[in-house]
Amino acid sequence: MRATAIAPANIALIKYWGKRDAALNLPLNDSISLNLSAAATTTTVEFVDQLADEMRINGQDISGAELEKISRHLDLIAAKLGVERARARMSSSNSFPTASGIASSASGFAALTAAAVSALGHELPEKELSILARRGSGSACRSIPDGFVKWNRGHADNDSFAYSLYPANYWAIRDVVAIFGQEKKKVSSSAGHEIAATSPLLPCRVRFVERSIGEIEQSLADRDFTKFGTILESDGLNMHAVMLTSRPAIMYWQPETVALMHQVYDWRRSGLEAYFTIDAGPNVHVICQEKDAADCRAKLAVFPGVREIIENVPAQGVRLTAAEPGF
Ligand code: DP6
Repeated sequence: MRATAIAPANIALIKYWGKRDAALNLPLNDSISLNLSAAATTTTVEFVDQLADEMRINGQDISGAELEKISRHLDLIAAKLGVERARARMSSSNSFPTASGIASSASGFAALTAAAVSALGHELPEKELSILARRGSGSACRSIPDGFVKWNRGHADNDSFAYSLYPANYWAIRDVVAIFGQEKKKVSSSAGHEIAATSPLLPCRVRFVERSIGEIEQSLADRDFTKFGTILESDGLNMHAVMLTSRPAIMYWQPETVALMHQVYDWRRSGLEAYFTIDAGPNVHVICQEKDAADCRAKLAVFPGVREIIENVPAQGVRLTAAEPGF
């Protein structure tokens, strides 16, 4: 009745922003992501004889809405498996700052789902795990498969899931993340998804993404880094255009975020081929080839406002592990 799973965070290269169904986390569009080696969540779930669920995240007990959301997720998993569940003791730790804009909800719900299924004595195929993880947080479905991942938006609960396009060792690219802020973000991504449709640009984005998905898949097949980088950078900006034109507007960028975007343009002009993408926070993911990673890292280390740098290689998806974060 006890299991531990580790799941990577993932960075979307073609973003998920806006839902067709908020209760089921069905997205408006397909998305494509990369699992991150240096940003993972390890979660232990143990079903025990006690009165209430309890969870510690990075050593802190959580309560209220955050805990209720996790309890509901365990109920959903038990219902799917057709079993009664006892209350759960859970402990989770992130290898990166929680809610800093690195999607802890993705690695968190992916690890929770895999650990809970196993602690209930079951095994599920990857597709079913991905569907369940999606119900906790949309992007979590992409932290289940390995390496380079595509989430097909599907039409209903049973066909909206992610799968691996290529394994982690397919292409040695790097995601060097410049961390600017460590505070909890002001507008959660769930709240942002809810108002995405208030942006007049959203319908245009959905059409644009359909084309970008095909193009980025082709660039992956060809390992064409220039095309790959151009498309992912453009899609990130496209998503932020929707955020910026929602009502109320959401601006996740800080001044240093914008300064770094300009800097990346300058690097490209001087021959360092790097591209950026930004999620629902101020941090900047700099995507480069293996040969340029040390250079990017050194440049970011002296960039004003950078508090921490996390360098990622493509990583495998969720897996069970014997190592526990400890209660
Ligand atoms: C900007 O998966 O965090 O990171 O489904 O409401 O939990 P919920 O949202 P979430 O949204 C992620 C948004 C994003 C882009 C992406 O990862 O595709």
